[in-house]
Amino acid sequence: MNNIKVLAIETSCDETSAAVVQNGREVLSNIISTQIDLHEKYGGVVPEIASRMHVEKINLVIIEALEKANLSLDDIDVIGVTYGPGLVGALLVGVVAAKAIAFAKDKPLVPVHHIEGHIAANYIAHPTLKPPFVCLIVSGGHTHLVMVKDYTTYEIIGRTRDDAAGEAYDKVARAIGLSYPGGPKVDKLAKEGNKDAIKFPRAMLDEGYDFSFSGVKSAVLNYVNGCKMKGEVIDNEDVAAAFQSSVIDVLVTKTIRLAKEKNMSKIALAGGVAANTGLREAMTESCKKNNIQLYYPEVLLCTDNAAMIGCAAYYEYLQGTRAGMSLNAVPNLPLGKK
Ligand code: KG4
Ligand code: ZN
Repeated sequence: MNNIKVLAIETSCDETSAAVVQNGREVLSNIISTQIDLHEKYGGVVPEIASRMHVEKINLVIIEALEKANLSLDDIDVIGVTYGPGLVGALLVGVVAAKAIAFAKDKPLVPVHHIEGHIAANYIAHPTLKPPFVCLIVSGGHTHLVMVKDYTTYEIIGRTRDDAAGEAYDKVARAIGLSYPGGPKVDKLAKEGNKDAIKFPRAMLDEGYDFSFSGVKSAVLNYVNGCKMKGEVIDNEDVAAAFQSSVIDVLVTKTIRLAKEKNMSKIALAGGVAANTGLREAMTESCKKNNIQLYYPEVLLCTDNAAMIGCAAYYEYLQGTRAGMSLNAVPNLPLGKK
């Protein structure tokens, strides 16, 4: 079959998204309806609100994705959908929509792991990128250091033992009065601050490939509370810069160490925190020093979107991955297990 067109659906968290992707890397449409405004006043994603909004938006988003691609459902070859990990009620909305279309139109249904989607965003952004490479996936829910062996084969080398990097960003942001999602705001503030003004811990820096971000998060919260109790003025720019520097140091050190150990000449970044300008700069510098080629997607493809799911679904489709009408949402789906 020539020109395989995937209709992809992503509803794992607070973005309702549908996309049409041709042959894995050509994005014909990528519609993202974000719920950030609704969750902002609660300081984080409220699962029940997320599910309800997905129900309201899903059909509109799918119709818009088809219209933008100038295609009808009959022109689509494959339906791809995120079935985990994520919020169960949110995932279910996408899974049910995908199953309904696949059943009604008799199209193959391909289940996609959300993190595999984040990794695949790099294939869209870099048309010549091929595995193997080392990938650092840093998002609101995940921090994984992965060997991408092939388009659908992964080995997880390290992961966070507690908070995800994005989660730490969001909690630190809250402590210094920034609204959800705090990552981009801390990133911006950090540019104005002095990263050496305060020393926050760098957990497990020289120890293996796992991460831990709850220590640095608690250190920031203690510092902020301590200042408040003493009536001292908090320099939010310095707090943001010092926190960011601590997180980036650990991420860069471990990723480069893994690439060197495995003799890999390519590193890719993925997930919402891959949009972080400080991380991109530090990783660029370190890769240059070590003769490693660095890849990361544009910001829109770093955060949740269905185009990345369409790309991953294409490669899974080529491998023969299929789901039937019994497909269910799997909130804790591990990477690499089908
Ligand atoms: O990948 P994503 O959209 O959703 C998950 O799968 O979790 O990632 C969202 C996370 C949030 O924690 C957000 O604060 C963080 O990515 N984020 C950033 C930046 N942009 C988004 N963190 C740091 N710097 C940024 N520029
Ligand atoms: Zn994500």
